[in-house]
Amino acid sequence: MARMFGQDFDTTTEFSETAWAEVLSAVDRTYADLVDYQERLERQNAELDELRGFLASVLGSVSDVLLVLSRQGRVQEVNASFLALTAQAKPAAVGQPVTALFDREDGDRLTAAIAKALSTKAAVTIEVQLTTPTGPAPIELSISPLVDDRGRGTGTVLTGRPLGELRQAYAALAQSHRDLQEAQAQLVRNEKLASLGRLLAGVAHELNNPISFVYANAHALERYAAKFETYFTRVQQGATRDELIRLREELKLDRELRNLREAVRGARDGAERVRDIVEDLRRLSSDGSGDRVDFDLTETARVAAQWVLRGAKRKVPVRIEGATRLMAHGRPGHIQQVVMNLVQNAVDALDGTAEPEIVMTLSEEAGLACLTVRDNGPGIPAALEASVFDPFFTTKPVGAGTGLGLSISHKIAQEHGGSLRLVPGDRGACFRLTLALGAQ
Ligand SMILES: Nc1ncnc2c1ncn2[C@@H]1O[C@H](COP(=O)(O)OP(=O)(O)OP(=O)(O)O)[C@@H](O)[C@H]1O
Ligand SMILES: [Mg+2]
Repeated sequence: MARMFGQDFDTTTEFSETAWAEVLSAVDRTYADLVDYQERLERQNAELDELRGFLASVLGSVSDVLLVLSRQGRVQEVNASFLALTAQAKPAAVGQPVTALFDREDGDRLTAAIAKALSTKAAVTIEVQLTTPTGPAPIELSISPLVDDRGRGTGTVLTGRPLGELRQAYAALAQSHRDLQEAQAQLVRNEKLASLGRLLAGVAHELNNPISFVYANAHALERYAAKFETYFTRVQQGATRDELIRLREELKLDRELRNLREAVRGARDGAERVRDIVEDLRRLSSDGSGDRVDFDLTETARVAAQWVLRGAKRKVPVRIEGATRLMAHGRPGHIQQVVMNLVQNAVDALDGTAEPEIVMTLSEEAGLACLTVRDNGPGIPAALEASVFDPFFTTKPVGAGTGLGLSISHKIAQEHGGSLRLVPGDRGACFRLTLALGAQ
């Protein structure tokens, strides 16, 4: 007692007064420290409670199932989704070996996957069947190791999403995709029918000419045949030479003979024209698998423009400039379809233009066969330039255009190893098609 607090105290009185005062103040300080400490503890406890509540609400609202396992593979914690899916109460789930919760056949794979996650300290994903009251539910389970401060694996966290929902969502998505494809296919069919209609109107006009030509010539031939019959009948009846000369003049046989030749040639030309038109049609309707050939792009462009104009309500002058013969390599039927689309678009765009004109220019540029189709219509606003080649992009009223013309044309140009682009300009719209050159 005499060496209390490391000091020597000489008298009892001195000890009682100073030492007690110090003891009391030390007790005071300790008490104040204790109170302080308790307050801090309470604050931290409150924060911990808040954090726990927050974590619980996060876990509760996660729609994926979540399980925390001990190192031995027993369930330590589960979230609300898991309990809802398995229709279990939490006390029943906690403490069980995890393999008891899944299909018996998955047990070994699950144990092996958990061991792998713990040994490699990396997440492992497997598909397992979770036992639920409505039967096994497939789940894609991600197993992640739980590691303590010193890097030791203390357990695992299992998260998974029932694949049933995903598969259902996927099936619904696939169905809408199929519906969309079907709708697109229907539109493509409509577009094909519409362009077939335009084409047929053009073809009907085109055929009308040579057929009426053949028809008129056939009539003339009948008339000439009747005159020659008269003449030959008289020859057979033994008419005199003078009489025959007179008859020949009367029937104008010399002139009719020339006309006869003319009529035969005309009928043949008409028939050839019909044959060419049919040949063009055959090429146009052939599928993409046809052989590529060298063909005259100028001629194809001319025929394409002619066909569009035959079916058009308003006659728009089409000027063809540049090379009068430009051999390109590809499928002429398809290229004709591309040019028809371009010319048709130009004709449509020129609807409200006072002095409409379309100019097609053919040239050889940088080793390519090049065709531009330009019109003096309103042009394409800058904001739409990026969209005109998109399938189904159209500014035409419902029923008037499907918006497939340019996208199909673009695809055809690409299939040919060529290109179809919009060329910037001051006035109207200008499209440029390039193709590989053919042997000139
Ligand atoms: N020469 C042009 N001048 C102005 N706009 C054009 C021209 N060519 C195309 N366009 C614009 O591009 C859009 C898409 O053209 P596209 O040929 O792909 O479809 P469409 O002509 O509308 O329909 P479809 O060709 O299927 O009948 C047109 O609706 C139009 O707005
Ligand atoms: Mg079009």
